[in-house]
Amino acid sequence: MALPKILLTRTLPPESQKLIENAQDIELLHWKEDRSIPRDQLLKLIPGVSGFLCLLTEKIDSELLDIAGPNLKVVSTFSVGYDHVDLNEIRKRKIPLGYTPDVLTDATAEMTALLVIAAARRMRESIHTVEDGKWSKWGPLWMLGTQLTNKTVGIVGLGRIGAATAHRLKPFLGSNGKIIYSGNSDKPVAIELGATRVKFDMLIREADVICICCSLNKQTSEMFNYDVFKVMKKNVILVNTARGAIIQQDDLVRALSEGLLGSVGLDVTTPEPLQPDHPLLKFPNVTVVPHLGSATLETRTMMGNLAVENVLSGVRGQPLPRAVEL
Ligand code: DGY
Repeated sequence: MALPKILLTRTLPPESQKLIENAQDIELLHWKEDRSIPRDQLLKLIPGVSGFLCLLTEKIDSELLDIAGPNLKVVSTFSVGYDHVDLNEIRKRKIPLGYTPDVLTDATAEMTALLVIAAARRMRESIHTVEDGKWSKWGPLWMLGTQLTNKTVGIVGLGRIGAATAHRLKPFLGSNGKIIYSGNSDKPVAIELGATRVKFDMLIREADVICICCSLNKQTSEMFNYDVFKVMKKNVILVNTARGAIIQQDDLVRALSEGLLGSVGLDVTTPEPLQPDHPLLKFPNVTVVPHLGSATLETRTMMGNLAVENVLSGVRGQPLPRAVEL
C-alpha cells in the first residue's frame, strides 16, 4: 500500500529534518533548494499529499487547497504567524492547521528589545560612522542617543511576545518608567509587569517607545498610518517585529521625511526582502534587519520539531500538539 505523502518546502534544522526523514510511515516530498518554492512548482508537487509542512512564504489559499485535493489532512506552518493561510478556506475544509507558538517567544522578544536599544543609541548610524572613517573625535554632544530610564513603553499586543518583550525592557526603565499596552482585553500578565491597558489612541500619544507585537489581521493591517504617526511623540522609538503590513510603509517614509519620528527599528517590512534602494534605508535613524526574530539555532530547531510533530500527528489522524483554533 502506498504511504501517505508529506510535502516539505524547505530543509529544516538538522534535528528536525532527521525527525521527519526518520518517520517510516510516510513518503517525504522535499523541496531541497534554499529559496522559496516557486508557486508553479508548489502546485505541481501538492496534488494528493496528506500533509503539508510549509513556511510563511507560501500562500495557502483556495487554489492551492483545491489542487491539493481531498487527501490533505493537515497543514503545518513553520511559524507562529499564520496570516499567509486563508483561515476560512482551511475551516471550510476542516483541515487542522498546526503552528509553532511559545518556542519562538524568547528569541523574538530578544530581537524586539535589541532593536529598541539599537534605535535609542543610534547603533546603525554609529557603526556606519566608524566604518566610513567619519569617527574623528570624541565630543560631548556628538552622536547622542536617548536612554530608556523613566520612559513609557507602549506594547501593541501584550500576547506571548509582547509580554516577554515588556519583561526584558522593564529593568531598563527604572522606578519611574511605565509600561502601557493596547489590545482587546486585560491581560493577567499585566499585573506582574505593572502594565496598564490603555486605548490605542492614548498609547500612540503617550509612549516614548512603541513595540508592535500583535498579529496581522483585518483589524491590525496598516493600523500605523500617517494619522497615527502625526500624533506620536516627536522622539518616539518605533519597533516592529510582527508583520510589515501592520505599518502603512509609504506613510512611514512620509512621516520620516517630515521628521515626525525619532527612530525606527524594523525586523519586518513590505515586501520582504526589501530592495537595497528602498527609500526607508536612506534614513539614518531607521534600522532594518531581515526578519530574524526567531533566527537562533535553538529556536529554529524547536520550531522545526514542533512543525514536524504537527504534520506527522495530522497525517496519523492524531490531535496536533499545537493547532490554531479555527
Ligand atoms: C513567525 O513565526 O511568524 C515569525 O515571523 C518567523 O519566525
